[in-house]
Amino acid sequence: MCGIVGAVAQRDVVQILLEGLKRLEYRGYDSAGVAVINPAGELGRLRRLGKVQALADAVAEQPLPGGTGIAHTRWATHGEPSEANAHPHVSGDIAVVHNGIIENHETLRDELKAQGYVFTSQTDTEVIAHLVERELKNHDTLLAAVMATRSLLEGAYGMVVIDRNDNNRMIVARSGSPLVVGYGIGEHFVASDQLALLPVTRKFAFLEEGDVAEISRDAVQVFDSNNQPVEREAKESTVEHDAGDKGEFRHYMLKEIYEQPQAIANTLEGRLVADQLNLDALGDLSDIEQVQIIACGTSYHAGMTARYWIEQLAGVACNVEIASEFRYRQSVVRPNSLLVTISQSGETADTLAALRLAKEQGFAKTLTICNVPGSSLVRESDMALMTRAGAEIGVASTKAFTTQLVGLLLLTAALGRGRALDSATEKRIADALTHLPGLIDKALHMNADIEKLAEQFAEKHHALFLGRGDQYPIAMEGALKLKEISYIHAEAYAAGELKHGPLALIDAEMPIVVVAPHNDLVEKLKSNIEEVRARGGELYVFADEAADIRPESNMQVMAVPHCDDIVAPILYTLPLQLLSYHVAVIKGTDVDQPRNLAKSVTVE
Ligand code: AGP
Repeated sequence: MCGIVGAVAQRDVVQILLEGLKRLEYRGYDSAGVAVINPAGELGRLRRLGKVQALADAVAEQPLPGGTGIAHTRWATHGEPSEANAHPHVSGDIAVVHNGIIENHETLRDELKAQGYVFTSQTDTEVIAHLVERELKNHDTLLAAVMATRSLLEGAYGMVVIDRNDNNRMIVARSGSPLVVGYGIGEHFVASDQLALLPVTRKFAFLEEGDVAEISRDAVQVFDSNNQPVEREAKESTVEHDAGDKGEFRHYMLKEIYEQPQAIANTLEGRLVADQLNLDALGDLSDIEQVQIIACGTSYHAGMTARYWIEQLAGVACNVEIASEFRYRQSVVRPNSLLVTISQSGETADTLAALRLAKEQGFAKTLTICNVPGSSLVRESDMALMTRAGAEIGVASTKAFTTQLVGLLLLTAALGRGRALDSATEKRIADALTHLPGLIDKALHMNADIEKLAEQFAEKHHALFLGRGDQYPIAMEGALKLKEISYIHAEAYAAGELKHGPLALIDAEMPIVVVAPHNDLVEKLKSNIEEVRARGGELYVFADEAADIRPESNMQVMAVPHCDDIVAPILYTLPLQLLSYHVAVIKGTDVDQPRNLAKSVTVE
């Protein structure tokens, strides 16, 4: 989704801005732009449709010298992807970049047009540029003009404003879209994500909701939503990331799939010590009577899986809901309820809004399971269980998902202690988790066979994924992975639901992927497999050998290493990730940045 980088320095900043945009590319975007105030006090602006490299090429031809500048990658919301709609937007001497959505932009646009302002884009952002330009006529400083402007805006924004008459200042404002200030020596930076600024600084202060900051080369002054000065402490970042490093891998997604044994070992560090679970960091959950999980996309699938664990192993009631639904419906909060948000990025707008709503609704505690330290969800939740997967660059979530599942299994154990979870089952969980990184490593050896199998999917237009029990959400995740990166329409069903409608879709053109660990439901699943075979469907079954599912006509079986049922959802995710990856590679799609999608969905 949209990315922002800004800088105010003595040196030329355009390459810093471009490098920052490149580091934000993984978030997904359709156009990019940069504006720099040059030493003569002129505003140089370049914008390009497509990749940041196209913008960098344009800068190479037409250099933009100057120490104060702003840059942006745009993911279209209002107005098609085009150069005219790309940021920065300019009004007179003012240039603006903006993440988020201005909900009252139509009213403001009409008002500004009536006052003689001419619009050159279809974006909601352009109203901000004109408003700041207008307010600057009635206020002494750019800071005051931005403060006046924000009081007119409804919706979400993270924005940076510069004035070509002042090459030692940028004004930034945050409401709903994250911004972080980077501290250098005699220079300062701003970005929507600290990853953008890691080449120039490791010292960051996160702006809070409603903050406005005035940033010059020598000072950063932050004001709260009442325009009162506040301190936002700058801290050293612990994030490690080199966006340019795919190592030996062709795509970030494949690299991240292969990183899972280590990522899971990192999630478990200090939480699984000498085969014992150490759950102290989750505090006392003995008073919790109900769990409400909220998330989106892949993270929602992690929550769906956890419901099976939390109810079966911990004996605690658990609901799971998509954040964009939860936030707009009237729900009933039971006493002593724990709200759990799950998010790779920690910035997903719907999940964040759901957390904020839930805090008003009287949940006893809020916990986030998250991969990004310092993100909004981490900062606004009572507790955070960090998944420590490391930066995930591929838009398709892989290691973030499996580490979320590990975190959720730890949460299950913490909830279950003193309740349904006896010590033998807790030991079983600890043993299963101990062996999990090794098992995942083994599952990765299926890669070559899955690559061959993928050829049979490349010409298909649809696919079905089937699972039962805690494998149903894994089937959902498999279908999501396939559709998001290969653009093949895929749906998942609980296998028992087939006969209630989807069976009508089965024919030789419909590949059906089944996840079949050796668990209590395997005999039921075999019956569902037979229902499909009897109707001529092409089956691809990922199965535990002990499940005794043998290849037949129309049915290929791939052996998955044997594992404890409890961690089977985590292990069976691997072959489905590899399958979608190889299908996408064969189809020649943009695996790491699939069309229309963004890594961090910061608008609703
Ligand atoms: C996963 O492959 C997707 N890119 C997407 O569904 C993602 O999981 C969703 O947008 C939620 O993101 P989050 O985990 O950062 O909150």
